[in-house]
Amino acid sequence: MNIEFQNTNLPDIIELKDIRTSYDHGQTYIIKDLNLLVEDIPNQGEFIVILGKSGCGKTTILKYIAGLTNPYSGQVFIRGKSRDQEVPISMVFQEPSALEHYTVLKNVMLPLLYRGVPVHEARDRAMSMITAVGLEGHEHKFAKFGKLSGGQIQRVVIARSLIANPGIILLDEPNRGLDNDTALQIDLLISNLWQQLQSTVILVTHNIDQAIFLGSVIYIMSSRPASIAKEFRVDLPFPRNRETKRSRPFLELKNRVEDYMYEL
Ligand SMILES: Nc1ncnc2c1ncn2[C@@H]1O[C@H](COP(=O)(O)OP(=O)(O)OP(=O)(O)O)[C@@H](O)[C@H]1O
Ligand SMILES: [Mg+2]
Repeated sequence: MNIEFQNTNLPDIIELKDIRTSYDHGQTYIIKDLNLLVEDIPNQGEFIVILGKSGCGKTTILKYIAGLTNPYSGQVFIRGKSRDQEVPISMVFQEPSALEHYTVLKNVMLPLLYRGVPVHEARDRAMSMITAVGLEGHEHKFAKFGKLSGGQIQRVVIARSLIANPGIILLDEPNRGLDNDTALQIDLLISNLWQQLQSTVILVTHNIDQAIFLGSVIYIMSSRPASIAKEFRVDLPFPRNRETKRSRPFLELKNRVEDYMYEL
């Protein structure tokens, strides 16, 4: 796999300060005093996983970082700037979000076309990305169920979000609903592309195996009210592969995380 990415050369720092989420004007809190500081490691990036039970507020946190909604109180800074300023961030949603009236190729070309990249160049770069995510031969199909499988549609979404190399990539359970093998393929793809991109990824999931397999650091999110309860560093070498999941350090960390979450 050989993809050319344009490096942003900017430190990617995400800071969440005293975040609170309330849907009843502060009578009860879903998220309360959540703090998180992500410091980028230059020329390497970091793969951050936020692990928490269903409904604890993971998608909500990603939406705050993406600037799609604002918290009840608290602040979100991206590279030192508050969220009302323009910062390129890419988000892969929990629900399939390919543009189904466009072909695979058009879906992947769009972020480049929006940036004013000439059509022929956008086409070439999109085709290398399509090859990288294993969709060569499918580029002229419409990106929808009936034409592509769920796993293939998710590959389109991943290709589209990564092609412009946004520097910060937010992934919301990108393999939800896929069978085990396909889910592992998507995880391997994400891990592999991240190592080439050297960007900052924040992935949220409730799946401990996936968190350890992908992450360089895992933050455990508590529930009701939610905050960041604990940090686990994942000292497993990259690139990760199927053997990683069977290794002793993987299983030991899995036991520690499981025990911690059980007590939470
Ligand atoms: N508009 C709303 N009004 C009231 N409660 C809401 C609203 N939107 C979200 N919630 C609640 O906020 C909580 C957090 O939602 P969120 O989607 O962030 O959870 P999640 O951790 O992503 O869950 P999952 O793992 O199932 O995707 C949920 O309990 C949800 O019911
Ligand atoms: Mg969610």
